[in-house]
Amino acid sequence: MNMNELCVSFQPPKPPFDVVLVTGAAGFIGSRAVRLLSDLGCRVIAVDNGYVKLPLPAASAQIVPVTADIRDRQLMKQIFADHRPDAVLHLAAVHHIPTCERDPHLAFDVNVMGTQSLLEAAEAVGTGSIVMASSGAVYVWDSGPLIEGETATGASDVYSITKLANEYQVKGWAERVGARAHLVRLFNTIGNGDPNGHLIPDILAQIVGGDERPVVRLGNTKPKRDYIYVNDVASGFVSALAYIKDGPPIDTFNLCTGRELSVAELVHLMGDILGKEITIESELSRFRRVDRLQQLGNPEKLERKTGWKAAWDARAALTAIVEGLGYLPAASRSNTSHPA
Ligand SMILES: NC(=O)c1ccc[n+]([C@@H]2O[C@H](COP(=O)([O-])OP(=O)(O)OC[C@H]3O[C@@H](n4cnc5c(N)ncnc54)[C@H](O)[C@@H]3O)[C@@H](O)[C@H]2O)c1
Repeated sequence: MNMNELCVSFQPPKPPFDVVLVTGAAGFIGSRAVRLLSDLGCRVIAVDNGYVKLPLPAASAQIVPVTADIRDRQLMKQIFADHRPDAVLHLAAVHHIPTCERDPHLAFDVNVMGTQSLLEAAEAVGTGSIVMASSGAVYVWDSGPLIEGETATGASDVYSITKLANEYQVKGWAERVGARAHLVRLFNTIGNGDPNGHLIPDILAQIVGGDERPVVRLGNTKPKRDYIYVNDVASGFVSALAYIKDGPPIDTFNLCTGRELSVAELVHLMGDILGKEITIESELSRFRRVDRLQQLGNPEKLERKTGWKAAWDARAALTAIVEGLGYLPAASRSNTSHPA
């Protein structure tokens, strides 16, 4: 039995909406959120422009795939007029940090102007609720745990500037039109099929193979992150949608585990799962120009308000990833821990 069968993420109740429009629906997280929403009985309008070249979910009785760019104001208005969604889960963004730094025009255009045209289209048909993917990166570089309403926010790179702008845009829109807006600050998501995730594939590519004591060459291995498995993220966003009508009209939540690992700890955990003793060599040329040392979230508010809880610990998540890539030797499988 593989880890995906062993670990069942929190099952949210059905959100109180018949029709939910999901942007970024082909993406790493969006594709899973679409599946979960449709399994719960919502009709899902799955919007994506194919930017990361992942396929939109297939059409079904519950899912309507729509190829569209959220920046296209007329098209977005037409889609909202055609489908009249009750709620929006807004995940579409340029999320790859180096791309945002290299091409800030694209990042601002998609993340900020795209969000603006989405809000205008929602307003035109009276769509009353939006859950938006923000990021743990909007917090100042504090040692954590980072807490909604307590830890200050402050952007330090193009991506976090766009996400912080989104928070103001969406809150301002909701106040103005009398809608509900819940901002979900997501932390570092891991899982298979991430078009933007290079750390884990990079590590795995250096570990697998015949060498029992491989050397892994990386940049700075000290930064710690709050890694969360993608299935828990999908259930977290859907939990936020299920809760939005019960909570205050405008609110903010962290979506994270409350546990952190350094890159070095991540590497050694992967080595442990694969039964290999790993030596890490840190190369200055691989260091990021901007890299915060810690980003640990506190998930308590989302847990308390919605009942959501992360089911996958780091070992279970990494085991599932390694298994999904076909790397895990059968002998290692009994070594895996059950999720929290
Ligand atoms: N993955 C993480 O670790 C993480 C962490 C914090 C926040 N987030 C946020 O969560 C959301 C989902 O992230 P993800 O990891 O699934 O990213 P992803 O890149 O896999 O998905 C984003 C999707 O948006 C689509 N998209 C991009 N530009 C578009 C446009 N102009 N019109 C329509 N669709 C467009 C892409 O094609 C892609 O399918 C994003 O808003 C991201 O910023 C992700």
